[in-house]
Amino acid sequence: MTAEATDEWLGWRAAAEAALYGPDGFYRRPEGPAGHFRTSVHASPLFAGAVARLLCRVDEALGRPASLGFVDMGAGRGELVTRVLAALPAEVAARTRAYAVEIADRPETLDHRIEWLPEPPQRLQGLLFANEWLDNVPVDVAEVDPTGVPRLVLVRRDGTERLGEPVAGAEAEWLARWWPPGRAEGARASEGARAVEDAPGVEDAPGVEDAPGVEGLRAEIGLPRDEAWSGAVATLDRGLAVAVDYAHTAHARPPFGTLTGFREGRETAPVPDGSCDITAHVALDACATACALPGARLLSQRDALRALGITGARPPLELASTRPAEYVRALASAGEAAELTAKGGLGDFGWLVQPVGIPDVLAD
Ligand SMILES: C[S@@+](CC[C@H](N)C(=O)[O-])C[C@H]1O[C@@H](n2cnc3c(N)ncnc32)[C@H](O)[C@@H]1O
Repeated sequence: MTAEATDEWLGWRAAAEAALYGPDGFYRRPEGPAGHFRTSVHASPLFAGAVARLLCRVDEALGRPASLGFVDMGAGRGELVTRVLAALPAEVAARTRAYAVEIADRPETLDHRIEWLPEPPQRLQGLLFANEWLDNVPVDVAEVDPTGVPRLVLVRRDGTERLGEPVAGAEAEWLARWWPPGRAEGARASEGARAVEDAPGVEDAPGVEDAPGVEGLRAEIGLPRDEAWSGAVATLDRGLAVAVDYAHTAHARPPFGTLTGFREGRETAPVPDGSCDITAHVALDACATACALPGARLLSQRDALRALGITGARPPLELASTRPAEYVRALASAGEAAELTAKGGLGDFGWLVQPVGIPDVLAD
């Protein structure tokens, strides 16, 4: 960024794009995402184990192909794909082609079996898994002005904001359909991530509503995420695509949006200067519909991991006296499972599951 760019007013999408992925962007820093926040991947190896089991189910549904694809979309430093390979049965691992899709550079020490790509491979047969990718696809922010009109929020590199032009075109259509700022439900909405579990099916998404906007309410325009997700799903020939993220659905959007920053483990103001992550929860119901494919399903991480064998149940107490070492290991594992499935935490994350030409292998 040049010195003049300091005073430039940009929409949040352009500002965050430069701040996260520009030449000196936040995601190009050597420490990687794990230097600033913990995702489910870092919380416990149980998560990668569950993804490996899901890949095995996809493998079965595909008839055990000679080449089984696994794509870690928005791979960070390749932590998930590395752990998934390690957790697979040897016979499946031997047939697996593993890809990490990432904007940042390949880590030097990464397992040589993993291909590092800027885009997902085409015509994949297998599983494409995107953990906390979509929340980092930058979006524009709209705010309702005193006359009830949603306008683009403009921001400078120091984080100062002002309102710009009225939202128009495809972005206005997206807002009207998915997140009209000021709709009564939106104004009453509580924490968005919680909503996924109670959400109606994705087919129940609302139509256009013409409610007047309420001054100061905000919405994040998820169109770039819809496009990113449908583009990623379109690379699958057959298999399953899964997006896991902080999410909300149409019946409970957060009234002031969720745009925020993270730096060194702490939530912070979202300042688009490359010093912090800039993230906003994902309208996963809109992403689901954008693909125009049958079978899309939203569920909570708690339910998804339960379907993959992670419950968080404590080991039986008698194990403590009969096999104490095993008991301690099982207790630690139960603690990690509890974190991955916790209410008010990672368990509330949304899983968007999109089968392509195979059954929904996550269904009970
Ligand atoms: C929050 S991190 C998640 C990392 C990892 N999936 C995890 O769960 O620990 C988001 C990652 O997505 C990457 N990313 C964002 N947009 C991308 C794109 N269009 N293509 C590839 N990677 C992308 C970022 O560089 C960043 O490493």
